Amino acid sequence: TQRPKPPHFITTADYTAEQLLDLVDRAIEFKVESKYLKNRTERPLTGKTMALLFSKRSTRTRVATETATAYLGGHAMFLGGQDIQLGVNESLLDTSRVVSSMVDGIMARVGGHEEIEMLAQESAVPIINALSDKYHPTQILADLMTIHEFYHHRNNNVTDRYTAHTQHPSQTLKGLKVAWVGDANNILQEILVAFPKCGISVAAAAPAGYKCDDDVVAIAQADAAKSGATVTFTTNPEEAVKDADIIVTDTWVSMGQEEEKAKRLQEFAGYQVTMDLAKRGGAKPDWVFMHCLPRKPEEVDDEVFYSDRSLVFPEAENRKWTIMAIIDALLVRGGI
Ligand code: CP
Ligand code: NVA
Repeated sequence: TQRPKPPHFITTADYTAEQLLDLVDRAIEFKVESKYLKNRTERPLTGKTMALLFSKRSTRTRVATETATAYLGGHAMFLGGQDIQLGVNESLLDTSRVVSSMVDGIMARVGGHEEIEMLAQESAVPIINALSDKYHPTQILADLMTIHEFYHHRNNNVTDRYTAHTQHPSQTLKGLKVAWVGDANNILQEILVAFPKCGISVAAAAPAGYKCDDDVVAIAQADAAKSGATVTFTTNPEEAVKDADIIVTDTWVSMGQEEEKAKRLQEFAGYQVTMDLAKRGGAKPDWVFMHCLPRKPEEVDDEVFYSDRSLVFPEAENRKWTIMAIIDALLVRGGI
């Protein structure tokens, strides 16, 4: 008899808005409990191990996963490309079979998306996608949490960031408009499969020749048609930021694209997020800024990045609480 397949978290496209927002709600519970109430006695991952199988660098995803695992009582083991046989003396398939026979969960940062799909296919334990060239689901869950927190606090005049939340994220996100100005990369693609189904409209500007995958666009449009959101694409950054509540960008040179740097810097000229771009394009007066980090100065200037409009540091912290909610769902509760 075959063993039942473990649950995985490969892209937010696999889940409904309700499932994603319940995860966000759970992440907020973890944040409040850990930072404010300090009342946790249960450590459900005691004696369990989470392997971090990373073929690319990471600060946030790594620190978030290691600290979240520790908080739940488990042990996290970072296995970087420099440390193990992966890619040098051993294939990803063999590595995943060996590692998954000894641990309780794997967070994997890979190159091609097919690698994470293969891991999910082969692994005996839950696989969490810690970034592939197509998707970055744990990032976009943190972004949903950050947007919810910001509007929840603003709508309710809450000044204490850790006051228990009285609104579910399904009440705060509907009707918002996100403008993306930048590359058609893994972050934009994950936004496209997550935001429209939550009722958030997305207007994306990328230079000519930089396009999202057809299947991603199809998912975004189908989700938008159901929720009443809109999804539009343009090559004009000013057009994208029109009426935006939130302006989002990311590096123009993702990990693995270093050789294209000079060409990309040229082709993205005019795409830097600045106060002036927001003004010229007609963003909402109280627009806010998000970026998954790490940030380079080309895509956003210091004035925006370090301004009061910038949510980038709470957004980074929320990686921890959302990853904690995902690990808890997969390893403790048995699924999302
Ligand atoms: N945003 C993000 O994934 O950051 P790291 O690459 O540092 O993990
Ligand atoms: N688009 C970036 C995101 C880094 C978190 C990359 O893939 O390198």
